[in-house]
Amino acid sequence: MYPLKRNRRLRSKKSLRNLVRETTIHPHDFIVPLFLVEGKNIKDEIPSMPNYYRFSLDNISKEVKQLWSLGVQAVLLFAKVPESLKDNYGTEALNNAGLMQRGIKEIKDCVPEITIMTDVALDPYSNFGHDGVVENNEIINDKTNEILSRMALSHAEAGADVVAPSDMMDGRVLSIRNTLEKNGFHHTGIMSYAVKYASNFYGPFRDALETKPGFGDKETYQMDFANKFDSVSEAKADIEEGADIIMVKPGISYLDILRDLKNSLNSPIAIYQVSGEYSMLKAAAQKGWLDHDKVMLEQLISMKRAGATMIASYFAKDAIKLLS
Ligand code: PBG
Repeated sequence: MYPLKRNRRLRSKKSLRNLVRETTIHPHDFIVPLFLVEGKNIKDEIPSMPNYYRFSLDNISKEVKQLWSLGVQAVLLFAKVPESLKDNYGTEALNNAGLMQRGIKEIKDCVPEITIMTDVALDPYSNFGHDGVVENNEIINDKTNEILSRMALSHAEAGADVVAPSDMMDGRVLSIRNTLEKNGFHHTGIMSYAVKYASNFYGPFRDALETKPGFGDKETYQMDFANKFDSVSEAKADIEEGADIIMVKPGISYLDILRDLKNSLNSPIAIYQVSGEYSMLKAAAQKGWLDHDKVMLEQLISMKRAGATMIASYFAKDAIKLLS
């Protein structure tokens, strides 16, 4: 009761504020997404993602070495696949000499200690830009799962530590887990994009990989952002199927969902601060309308405060440099 309890007391001095602060951000909190492209000596800025690049494999080791020296513990790989290699079944995704598989090996050779995570979904390989096999304008669940599990296996064989299915097919974690177990990859982790919404914040990412869906949208498999009845059950199902880490995506608009999961699960939880979130802040900062560094840190702290164990973020490098 006032004035016995004055909330301003603990805010009155910087050292006191530092002392009572609950949430901090550390280099180990980050997963860094990396975009791989074919070619030589390529470091290509993504137009809708200022200061973020696609790397050819000869340039990727330098980047990963730098990330490792900054204290980053994990990278999450995405491959930009040439149009000519795309088909309805994502055949190229299973090529053991494909860009993703070579990228994994390259990074494993240069920085064996870093955790290599890989995106498992058909959209970069699909001529429809969808995350699954298309028949009669529908995304076919179980056929897709078969391909995803072989794709995950080929990443594991190349040296991936954690495979990250981002497709939202039902039952795909179980089918990936069974395939990995059968083939002796008992220690390959699964980070499941368990709670992934049909969000409008993915636009710049789809520019980066040229994966805009050719028809329709992803609302028959990604979740309706107006709902939360299925968020905890999606996550629990994936944990039962063998997921080691649960991911929520996107980030800042979904902190209520993240907190629900934190309160209901005993699992590490990742959140993905997606491309549109990155681009919005970059654009506002370029216009001088927001303080880039301060807003960036506020958003990262907010995600940790809401319950994130780790954050996949295009801001990782910017943030870590600022922290040190
Ligand atoms: C696709 C995938 C997407 C992202 C990660 N994996 C896009 C989508 O679902 O269309 C988005 C990441 C971002 O926007 O940063 N499987």
